[in-house]
Amino acid sequence: MFRRLQSCHNVEDLRLLAKQRLPGPIFHYIDGAADDEVSYRRNTVAYEECDLVPNVLVGVENIDMSVTVMGCKLAMPIFCSPTALQRLFHHDGERAVARAAEKFGTMFGVSSLGTVSVEEIGAMIKTPKMFQLYFHKDRGLTNAMIERVKEAKFDALALTVDTITGGNRERDLRTGFTSPPRLTLSSLVSFALHPLWAFNYFTHEKYGLPQLEGYVKEGSNIAISVGDYFSTMLDQSMNWDDAEAVRKNWGGEFCLKGVMSAADARRAVDIGATAIMVSNHGGRQLDGSRSPFNQISEIADAVGDKLDVICDGGIRRGTHVLKALAAGAKACSGGRMYLYALAAAGQPGVEKALGNMRTEIERDMKLMGVTKVSDLSREHLRYR
Ligand code: LAC
Repeated sequence: MFRRLQSCHNVEDLRLLAKQRLPGPIFHYIDGAADDEVSYRRNTVAYEECDLVPNVLVGVENIDMSVTVMGCKLAMPIFCSPTALQRLFHHDGERAVARAAEKFGTMFGVSSLGTVSVEEIGAMIKTPKMFQLYFHKDRGLTNAMIERVKEAKFDALALTVDTITGGNRERDLRTGFTSPPRLTLSSLVSFALHPLWAFNYFTHEKYGLPQLEGYVKEGSNIAISVGDYFSTMLDQSMNWDDAEAVRKNWGGEFCLKGVMSAADARRAVDIGATAIMVSNHGGRQLDGSRSPFNQISEIADAVGDKLDVICDGGIRRGTHVLKALAAGAKACSGGRMYLYALAAAGQPGVEKALGNMRTEIERDMKLMGVTKVSDLSREHLRYR
């Protein structure tokens, strides 16, 4: 079936358009997850197993869906999680996502494995920016990235803590996906079947990972899978003292990305983190890990008044955002929800994804009988 951006009404529509546009290995890199992909599916199903109980006759003409997270006011309660390799998905990559996020007044996360430099993004948009840090064995690289991000005046740093080794991503093993793409017979066939993607990839600026420049060739000049990158380049000895040292070195709003237990959330408070992203990395690391949504209540009860709890993962609908906020999250974030859109149509695609989400959240708040995010509470939720 031939699909157009205008008729993409939801994330699944955008996913199918992305599937149509991308060479198989690249689509499956975005779409895939670890082992049997149980956590990946659970991340969304968890919302569906929880029902909303609305109130009526409240007067909902004017809705305020803004939230403040890590000291940044966001015009909508969901932001774009940092994700890697974006110029593989669309030649504009991070530039498209940054501009779309700016239009919607929400935060944009740039990855250590991003394909546009932090300097360029810092100069490009005025809205809040988060940098996602991978703690590399090469401490020189880790520290250099922190300095560059400070110079580029980012608003927050998120240290990823759930990639201590690579997840078992069997779709990537099957397709042979690497960054940059290895030119094998099968990848050339998949490029030939997607000539527009191939034309754009080969005729735009050379693909690379500018945050790693001067330190690491893997990912830019040496082809490597993301799983192998995590397992070989990142420091498996990373511990709480290291996280605290990163927090001190950075000196600003500091988030741990990938916290799943209340005990770890308490330790995040102890080391001075100002936020945590409750996340299982989109089900791409530990399969069988509980869904972030199902962990929000106990984590919010433990630390919700001491740092910002962000629910990251599985969000496909405005109602999912409302459920996470009602359970105790301060804000939500998502990766695939905008990555499919980026792959489908670049900046207009991401704008469509964020626009669909904003429209849904506004409609859903009205139907729930709430005029501001802080009106949402567990009284609105029933677990089956
Ligand atoms: C991934 C990393 C790079 O999940 O975030 O592929």
